[in-house]
Amino acid sequence: MSKVVSMLNMKGGVGKTTLTYNLACYAAYKKFYKVLVIDLDPQSNLTQTFMGDDGYRQFLRNNKQSVVDIFENSNIVSNEIIHEVYYEWIDDGLIHLVPARVELSKTLKNPSTKEHKLRRFLTDYKNSYDLILIDCPPTDSILSVASYLASDSLIIPVKLEKLAIIGLPLLASSIEEFNHDYAGEYEINIAGIIFNNVEKNDPPENRVSKQEVMAFANEKGWYVFDNEVRESKAFVNGIREGKPMFLSTRVRENFTQEFYQVGDEFLKRVGLN
Ligand SMILES: Nc1ncnc2c1ncn2[C@@H]1O[C@H](COP(=O)(O)OP(=O)(O)O)[C@@H](O)[C@H]1O
Ligand SMILES: [Mg+2]
Repeated sequence: MSKVVSMLNMKGGVGKTTLTYNLACYAAYKKFYKVLVIDLDPQSNLTQTFMGDDGYRQFLRNNKQSVVDIFENSNIVSNEIIHEVYYEWIDDGLIHLVPARVELSKTLKNPSTKEHKLRRFLTDYKNSYDLILIDCPPTDSILSVASYLASDSLIIPVKLEKLAIIGLPLLASSIEEFNHDYAGEYEINIAGIIFNNVEKNDPPENRVSKQEVMAFANEKGWYVFDNEVRESKAFVNGIREGKPMFLSTRVRENFTQEFYQVGDEFLKRVGLN
């Protein structure tokens, strides 16, 4: 049975999509896991990263099924909604994608009784993958509830910057409300906070931010990853080249080694490895 993991923070620009992409690639390429990635953000950044600009345009033109169909259409066609991601560098592992499109935002306008649909959709696929990763939007909505219901655990990327903390109280109250509403049925397991964009020489304001986040995590009993993701052009270049950071051009070996440590800790925390 696969482990289902949501990447969530109520703040945008913290690295949810970047980490979803790179951790999926790490799990498939380095650990040969079978990975299904679900883009649950109407912005579709993850889909664009996997498909590239031309592929994404073609996908929109062809009108193939997407994550929207999980919420809006009772007739899901498996080989239409699951997109194969082809990378010549993957030999043994595999990555499949359920893409997003902006029309997903319509689900937010008319959300009634849709929160269980993602979980139900995934029950059909749980035996086909080792890891199912869900990239979430930075909002408390039907989509976050759907991801809570579908997931075994949550990963919370936090960008180390001024006011890094601001998405966390909203996330905590969203989780508490969920645990209250679904008491006895579902409970959210936090696999941990991953610090992202960490610079070698932290500016003083980042050190304050980090302390605030650590104190908050401590109060909530949330695990904080020992390994951190460094601020590196390799992530930006990689996404532009359609590659994970560890295959991007001119990436430094010590950076890739550091990222592998994050990858290993991630797999361990979510119950793989
Ligand atoms: N570790 C990192 N080093 C450098 N740039 C990063 C790093 N992580 C993310 N970025 C960049 O930060 C921006 C926001 O990241 P993204 O993953 O889209 O955030 P989110 O999905 O949380 O909105 C993107 O331009 C991405 O390339
Ligand atoms: Mg994103």
